[in-house]
Amino acid sequence: MAGAAAGRFESKGSAVKSSIGVAVIGAGMAGRAHAQGYRSASTVFAAGLPEVRLVAIADANETLGADAARRYGYERAETDWEAIAAAPDIDAVSVVVANTLHREIVEGLLAAGKHVLCEKPLAPTVEDARAMVQAAEKADRVAAVGFSFRRSPAVGAIRERVASGELGRPLHFNGHYWCDYGCSADAPMSWRYKGGPGSGALADIGSHLIDMAEFLCGPVESVHGAVLSTVIPDRPVPLGTAIGHAGGVELSDRREAVENEDMATFTATFQSGAVGTFSVSRVAHGLPNALGFELFCADGSAAFDVSRPAEFTVSDRVSGDHRRVLTGPEHPYIAGGLAMDFPGVAHGINDFFTYQARAFLEEIAGVDGLPRCADFAAGLRNLELLDAVVRSAGSDGSLPG
Ligand SMILES: NC(=O)c1ccc[n+]([C@@H]2O[C@H](COP(=O)([O-])OP(=O)(O)OC[C@H]3O[C@@H](n4cnc5c(N)ncnc54)[C@H](O)[C@@H]3O)[C@@H](O)[C@H]2O)c1
Repeated sequence: MAGAAAGRFESKGSAVKSSIGVAVIGAGMAGRAHAQGYRSASTVFAAGLPEVRLVAIADANETLGADAARRYGYERAETDWEAIAAAPDIDAVSVVVANTLHREIVEGLLAAGKHVLCEKPLAPTVEDARAMVQAAEKADRVAAVGFSFRRSPAVGAIRERVASGELGRPLHFNGHYWCDYGCSADAPMSWRYKGGPGSGALADIGSHLIDMAEFLCGPVESVHGAVLSTVIPDRPVPLGTAIGHAGGVELSDRREAVENEDMATFTATFQSGAVGTFSVSRVAHGLPNALGFELFCADGSAAFDVSRPAEFTVSDRVSGDHRRVLTGPEHPYIAGGLAMDFPGVAHGINDFFTYQARAFLEEIAGVDGLPRCADFAAGLRNLELLDAVVRSAGSDGSLPG
């Protein structure tokens, strides 16, 4: 960790401050991860982050918001995002609600002078994302996107090996993000199943996978031959709010149509000449959260599966061995990034949110330290890629007869 701004600091685009007041909009599955991320941000790495005040959590569901505020030690709960935008004691806000709500809330927050960390995918459409990029440019605030898997120590370690040339030129990225949250035909209807082609598994989990592929292999040049498939055509409407992947909520007798894909596959070529093969699914039995990839390079290979987040495998041309590496202080984020930071002490996805929150706060305060968060331009690029995947589904290689 590099230098620290002790005491007062000049926040990007605003006055000199001595602390950062934070808020989270959305107290659902990922909102709580953001809430704990801010809570933990000052406990990791070097001293020097300005005081972080945990000010408010806002959720349309009053009970949920109040419960999250109490659990994570925030001063108050709100029921609408406008209260967050209007609050003078709040400087930085995570937007962690359904994708279709991102644009309105983010634009409102930026116009009110807040720094914003918006969850992925940045927006439901390329057009919305473009408008959000413009709003961020106008506001001159930190405007970041939550590609949390970039904060994985194991992925960071593989990226370092690619960048150093140790593995040689990337040839083939084979990635998957397989989840089982949609396996049951009685998994309740939620915002995740609404919207046009591409807004389903592709946007929800494919957005992470595509970002990870570019994080490791550089820019994708083109995508090809997508297949988008919906296998469960309708789902029961819940009686209460379906939070996150929505297990355990009571169901009504009414079913509504699923509007987007359960699975998507496609291929890609990178500007470097490497090729990519991708598959995402929310109906992958037995795999609650399996983001993984193999990366084959000219002089070796590496692989990662977030189901075992604190390890990765590598092989090189010299030894030919495919060996398992446990993450430790020699890898990104571990030294100072865990309460116990010696080798073999595992970590998990929730830690990625701490590192992400820390990086966002560092950028606001002008403190050097962790790699900066992806900006809105990167969020727009991610949307353009998702859009290209959907368009590529129209390219037909069907057989005669
Ligand atoms: N980075 C990650 O690993 C990750 C993981 C899960 C979700 N996400 C992203 O986070 C976002 C939220 O996903 P989730 O799974 O937490 O959703 P969720 O359905 O669990 O939670 C959304 C919450 O928003 C609340 N809400 C709805 N309308 C609101 C409004 N107008 N104002 C305030 N609150 C409102 C709901 O009551 C609910 O509690 C999505 O963009 C998703 O893609 C990211």
